[in-house]
Amino acid sequence: MTDPQALSPAELAATPEEHQRRAVNSLIRADDITAGYLPGINILEGCNFYLDQGEIVGIIGPNGAGKSTLLKALFGLIPIRKGAVTMGGENITSAKAHRLVQLGVGYVPQTQNVFPSLTIEENLEMGIFLRPKKFAERFDAVADLFPLLSERRKVKAGSLSGGERQMVAMGRALMMEPAVLLLDEPSAGLSPMFQDQVFIRCKAINATGVSIILVEQNARRCLQICDRGYVLDQGRNAYTDTGESLRNDPKIIELYLGTLAGSSEKTVEAPKKVDTQE
Ligand SMILES: Nc1ncnc2c1ncn2[C@@H]1O[C@H](COP(=O)(O)OP(=O)(O)OP(=O)(O)O)[C@@H](O)[C@H]1O
Ligand SMILES: [Mg+2]
Repeated sequence: MTDPQALSPAELAATPEEHQRRAVNSLIRADDITAGYLPGINILEGCNFYLDQGEIVGIIGPNGAGKSTLLKALFGLIPIRKGAVTMGGENITSAKAHRLVQLGVGYVPQTQNVFPSLTIEENLEMGIFLRPKKFAERFDAVADLFPLLSERRKVKAGSLSGGERQMVAMGRALMMEPAVLLLDEPSAGLSPMFQDQVFIRCKAINATGVSIILVEQNARRCLQICDRGYVLDQGRNAYTDTGESLRNDPKIIELYLGTLAGSSEKTVEAPKKVDTQE
């Protein structure tokens, strides 16, 4: 075991021992998970994560660190080779997506997250096909958060701007009234105004009682709105602390926030992806 004296608070909090101690009352947690896409190649390697009820937890880190992979592993989209994911004490390791949706988990992938040939309304219907009778009630609730969705309900999602599509994707995931929302880079590729809208909406969604796991390339802004954050590097959590502390940690600033982090630019160059399929 590493000498705890030599670690910064954020490094200490990221140790497996501290994770075990702090995650006891969590809503959803991943313990020591290993997962990957290709046989013999692990992308996540002994990764620990937890989310408490009511929190927004941010996940930042360089391109290719495994942020999207962690969300996919939590949502049962890639097999977990070792370790466990639990929700409210129930083992949901590699559970199927429809089971997770029933348990109250909503997931908005990084890309291809709307059906472009369907209207906004039809996209939201897809979000609640398991409980169609609730459509009208949920549509109204979701449109309260995103008025655009009712104003333009008959418009095809394919004709919308990136920011508008992101609202459709988040709205669709909210239709099932999830307890937890997993968002993968919701502000990526958006204009600064739309980026800010995304963060404001995340706060508003969280205020309705939805706990949020937020993967973000806009690391500074993410850490500003999240209760806690994780810095993922090479498939494991290198640092974790409150959003505020991470944002002001000189080591995090030097390694991960840099001068570009306040803009929409990514801070670290990506290794080539083997396959970009989400
Ligand atoms: N479908 C896939 N098949 C094989 N390897 C993949 C696949 N998707 C991702 N990877 C690999 O897994 C690693 C982590 O990718 P991941 O998408 O989780 O990174 P990320 O932290 O989300 O990066 P970014 O900031 O660019 O979104 C990368 O090395 C990538 O090449
Ligand atoms: Mg990603």
